[in-house]
Amino acid sequence: MCEKRLAGKNALVTGGSRGIGRAICLRLAQEGAHVAINYASNEDAAKEVLALIEADGGSGSLLPFDVANTSQVKEKISAFVKEKGPIQILVNNAGITRDGLLARMKEQDWDQVLSVNLKGAFNCVQACARDMMKARWGRIINIGSVVGTSGNPGQANYAAAKAGLEGFTKSVAKEMATRGITANVVAPGFIETDMTAVLPDKVKERLLGEIPLGRMGQAHEVAAAVSFLASEDASYITGHTLHVNGGLVCQ
Ligand SMILES: NC(=O)c1ccc[n+]([C@@H]2O[C@H](COP(=O)([O-])OP(=O)(O)OC[C@H]3O[C@@H](n4cnc5c(N)ncnc54)[C@H](OP(=O)(O)O)[C@@H]3O)[C@@H](O)[C@H]2O)c1
Repeated sequence: MCEKRLAGKNALVTGGSRGIGRAICLRLAQEGAHVAINYASNEDAAKEVLALIEADGGSGSLLPFDVANTSQVKEKISAFVKEKGPIQILVNNAGITRDGLLARMKEQDWDQVLSVNLKGAFNCVQACARDMMKARWGRIINIGSVVGTSGNPGQANYAAAKAGLEGFTKSVAKEMATRGITANVVAPGFIETDMTAVLPDKVKERLLGEIPLGRMGQAHEVAAAVSFLASEDASYITGHTLHVNGGLVCQ
């Protein structure tokens, strides 16, 4: 049982229906936050997350929207705030991949990955920041990736979006520090979720061989880093990238 160090806070987790986002929702709720579970289309999975939270004595709400759709983000977040109050903790986790070698990458695959992974975070920060500034307290945690640091063949779009997220986060951290808001990145390595389940076995084997801890990470291990950055224990950490990658890339 976790300490209720986030009691009384509202948290929004984008892409909370599956994988890493799901684990973050469960962890923040265990620590006492009311969690808005965002998702794009998988309502059954999101409902399952909400049921798990409630079965554990926590509270949450379903908040479907497409993070890449600016007007939808504004509308849905403002409706949530009217009903439940301001969002103090924002976790930009929603992400997609559209992998392919650069020479053959379709413009649409570049645009979609940038829209969801990077513009999505911009949309949600803009929609939540005013309330955080008013309250002079806020936590923004953006989920990056090890490939934002290392690059990866076949992922030029995804690596650009994740590297962009780091520059974005550092700028937000510097702009909003005087208002008591911190902004950080958690950069996972190779984590067992639907996103990595589709990788060919050969790629998985090669990657496993490169991880000093010798195994894939689990979503709850990423969630633990997020919950730390959301807590008072991390009050003097901003503009930082916290790598959760088993040593795959050492920074
Ligand atoms: N898994 C890894 O090894 C790994 C490594 C490094 C970084 N990451 C990053 O960690 C984050 C989570 O990855 P994951 O592996 O947990 O992914 P996942 O299992 O594929 O889940 C993706 C989540 O994002 C949601 N989503 C996708 N597009 C969306 C949109 N336009 N608007 C709102 N929600 C949307 C999905 O909602 P639906 O259920 O409705 O589709 C789902 O909840 C991503 O940012 C990813 O880039 C993952």
